[in-house]
This record gives sequence, C-alpha cells and structure tokens, in this order.
Amino acid sequence: MSQAIKITKVAHSNVDSLDFDNIPFGKIFTDHMYEAHYEDGKWGSFAIKPLENLSVHPGNLAWHYGQSIFEGMKATKGKDGAPLLFRPEEHIYRLNASAARMCMPEFPEAAFLDAIHTIVKMEEAWIPPSEGSALYIRPLMFATDEAIGVRPSEKYTLLIMCLPVGPYYPKPVSLLADTKYIRAAMGGVGEAKTAGNYAASLYPAKLAKEEGYDQIMWLDAKEHKYVQEVGTMNIFFVIDGKVVTPITEGTILKGITRKTIIQLLEEKGYDVEQRRINIDEIVEAYKAGTLSEVFGTGTAAVIANVNKLKYKDTVMDFDQDKATVSAYAKSTINGLRNQTVEDTHNWVVEAGTYTA
Ligand code: COI
Repeated sequence: MSQAIKITKVAHSNVDSLDFDNIPFGKIFTDHMYEAHYEDGKWGSFAIKPLENLSVHPGNLAWHYGQSIFEGMKATKGKDGAPLLFRPEEHIYRLNASAARMCMPEFPEAAFLDAIHTIVKMEEAWIPPSEGSALYIRPLMFATDEAIGVRPSEKYTLLIMCLPVGPYYPKPVSLLADTKYIRAAMGGVGEAKTAGNYAASLYPAKLAKEEGYDQIMWLDAKEHKYVQEVGTMNIFFVIDGKVVTPITEGTILKGITRKTIIQLLEEKGYDVEQRRINIDEIVEAYKAGTLSEVFGTGTAAVIANVNKLKYKDTVMDFDQDKATVSAYAKSTINGLRNQTVEDTHNWVVEAGTYTA
C-alpha cells in the first residue's frame, strides 16, 4: 500500500451549479485537487484538498525552462452509475516516460493509481452521464526549484485536477497540412507529453485558423512529407478499406486512444498498418477515390472525424456518410466506457476499487 492520502473535503460541493446539459470543455473544475511533492529524492505529502490557487516563487524553474509534463484521462459512468476509469495504468506508464525524457523524477505507479481512484470516487457526482461527455482528469507534474539557470530541478509538484467536460470537437474538423512549421524532429521531445510541444503548436494553429481550418496536421521536420499527428490528436486514414496511421518513431505522441483503436479495429478484422505515410500518397488516394475517411483519436477528442484536409493547393473533402470505420471505433470505445459494450480486455475499472 502506498503512503496514505491526507483528505480534506470542501464544506459544500459546487456540483449543484453545473448544468449537465451544457458543459464546455476545460472551463469547469470540480471541488478538489490532489497534490504531492518531490523533495530529497522522494515523493510524499500526498493530499486531496479543496481546489485552490498555488503560491509559486517567480524563479520557478518550470516557468523559465519548461520542465512540465501532463496526462489526460477520462472517467465515465457505467450502466449502474458506477464511476469508471479507462486503462489508468497506461497513463502512469506514459507520464513516467515523459518524465524520463524531461529529466524529471518518476511518480510511483501505486501512488498514482491510488490518487486517481480516490479523487474520482470523491468527485463521482461530477461525472456527466451522457455519451461523449466525461470527467476529464488532468495529472500535471512540474519543477518547483527557485533558481535561474538551465538544469534539472530538485523539487517537483504533482497535481491532479478533474473537470466535467462535453465533447472536445462537437463537429467534424478541418485540417491544414503545414508545409512550413514543424512539431517534432527525430531526437526531440515529440513523444513526451510536455507543455512546450503544445506551446509551439499555437502560432501555426493560429495561422491555420486564419485560413479557415480548425487545426494543423503536422508533417515531419526533415522532408515535410511524412504525416505525424494533429495538434490535439493522433491521425488515421482509411485507404481502400485498409486503416493506416503514422508509426510513432519517437516524434509522435503514443496515444492511449490510438493504441486502443488499433487493437479494436484489428480485432474487428480491419487491416491496420502503422507506417510512414507520405502526404503525396494521401493526395493520390483522394484523387483516385480510394481515401474514404480521415479521423483523429485522443483522450480529449475521443474520435474526431475530419471533413476537410488541405495540402498545398489540394483541398480534400470527406463525405461523412462514408465514415464507417470511425463510426465503429467511436461507438465501441464509448460503449466500453458506459458498459454497453462488453469489456473483454479488462480496460475498464471501477474508481475507488484500487488496492496496491
Ligand atoms: C488529451 O487528449 O487529453 C490532451 O491532452 C490533448 C489536449 C488537446 C486536451
């Protein structure tokens, strides 16, 4: 059993102020947060307490040099209303992989699972019941040394916040394949879920929005040819009935939804290829009429259909009635999360049932 969590509850929950039929993404926080501190080479001071502002020194290393990593997870309600987590252990594996790349300390797996189970069980009244909505869980680890100078911090904080959310993309999205800017190069930090990757995407995404597109689709840094991912999700194409998605190779976030969808589609009998995808191949398939659908996967996005993709002068439009692979993927993952689809993989676990 990991070190016990010290729990302090709010006197009155704010959940009554939530309009469950109208939840924006990312704006509403639940009553409590989890906090842990790393000092003298170990994690401790595990606590759940009312959500509050932090008091941070202006010399905080995370702000200056970017040692900040995070995760995104979701909790949903099962058929009897039980709070459910989806593959929580995958998120601590990935958080710790990000930590290793950013020279940050690993967080103990048992303490993480204990924290997630405990806070989600405490906040279960905030879990929206409708399909496509969820309780979004945001673990965040950042450096806290007070110093100026480029070096790894010796102190860190880990927080876990919870937010009831509606769909990240309520409608199909349009993408612009960027031919100038890049997200990640081989040897860089593209595979880490670190704040700077998202900061770097903001300016190109702003330009894409000015051109009328919702998001950027990144191409590789060297040749501007091979598809990587979208700013907010991994990307899939269906060509001639075959599902193709970029191989991760160190530059692409190893999406847990991506991994889940690959497995579900393979089990359904789809041929799924993880490989380098040349953007010219996408354009050719579109022109030949064999590119039937494009969709993104992510914790926040779940499955987001793409209705338009632009590369140089070619604008590709996708008929949403043909999006059968993504429809299967979406209904299956949502069904697993609300227990209307049988969970044969033990991916779904009830919050509050963790024992180390
Ligand atoms: C997630 O999918 O959980 C992310 O962290 C991506 C972000 C766009 C919300």
